Amino acid sequence: MTSVTSLFSPIEADLRLLSQNLIDLVGTRHPILSAAAEHLFGAGGKRLRPAIVLLISRATMVDQDITLRHRRLAEITEMIHTASLVHDDVVDESEMRRGVPTVHSMLGSNRIAILAGDFLFAQSSWYLANLDNLEVVKLLSEVIMDLAAGEIQQGLNRFDQNLLLETYLEKSYYKTATLFANSAKAAGLLSDVSREIAEHLYSYGRHIGLAYQVVDDILDFTGSTETLGKPVGSDLKSGNLTAPVLFALEEKPYLRVLIEREFAQDDDLEQAIALIRDSRGLERSRELAAQHAQIAVEHLVDLPPSECHQALINMADYVLSRLS
Ligand code: IPE
Ligand code: IPE
Ligand code: MG
Ligand code: MG
Repeated sequence: MTSVTSLFSPIEADLRLLSQNLIDLVGTRHPILSAAAEHLFGAGGKRLRPAIVLLISRATMVDQDITLRHRRLAEITEMIHTASLVHDDVVDESEMRRGVPTVHSMLGSNRIAILAGDFLFAQSSWYLANLDNLEVVKLLSEVIMDLAAGEIQQGLNRFDQNLLLETYLEKSYYKTATLFANSAKAAGLLSDVSREIAEHLYSYGRHIGLAYQVVDDILDFTGSTETLGKPVGSDLKSGNLTAPVLFALEEKPYLRVLIEREFAQDDDLEQAIALIRDSRGLERSRELAAQHAQIAVEHLVDLPPSECHQALINMADYVLSRLS
């Protein structure tokens, strides 16, 4: 299995600095905000998105050090991601995140958690504006709109059996891949790469992000409560019909009945999970994730060879290796 540590070794020092800065950046406006930020940023998380920003920054700044703007972009990217998680956990009524209680459960209040998430989004916009690069501001502002649109779309599609795979992938772009794609492109723009390379970086992020989300959706069925930090089948239970479910529906007619009555009867959810596990849904989803990971790598060919370039290639294997 590709380990995150070896993947991140060229940017280990950068990530350490990022972790220190993240907590400081939230500032001391209000003790609740500092507590929420310290709580989540301190708990870690995989730091995948800022790692990609930093790797792209280094891979595109040949023979030169990365700038403070590159670093700030990585911090903003993690801040936006974290803000989206604070809101997502309220929407999903999740109790645990990153191995610690979620912000709303720690504070005992959904209202305050939503406001804390809003503050993090606003704070990230402020730091973004201070990068003084209008195109980068536009890219990341669009991400913030996309994240909200993705959550709304997911909420509206609950238990919708007619959901097309295409619509699922579009929602996954808004919910997840947009941040990978736009922050990857923004990192390139801060290095003054060509238009062509900037678009390749966008596509790299888009496809890595889609692969990442599909893998996450598979883990909802193959992981354990321990590794997931939430009960198996949580997505399904809340009516979020992901790739494995959409594929399984093609071969298991009874699954339709169970979803139709929203798992109202005893054992409905367990039966549905068993049907999905028994179908080719998980395998086909894995193939879908692998396809996107492969496409992502193809978009890196024009970057000069370097240790960071190689780590970006290996990132595709890492995303898939979460399944094994
Ligand atoms: C969680 O993202 C949300 C998804 C897109 C599945 P991560 O799995 O990157 O979460 P952290 O940042 O490591 O906690
Ligand atoms: C996480 O989505 C939030 C975003 C990607 C914006 P999910 O609800 O699917 O993921 P987890 O399981 O809470 O991390
Ligand atoms: Mg969630
Ligand atoms: Mg969610």
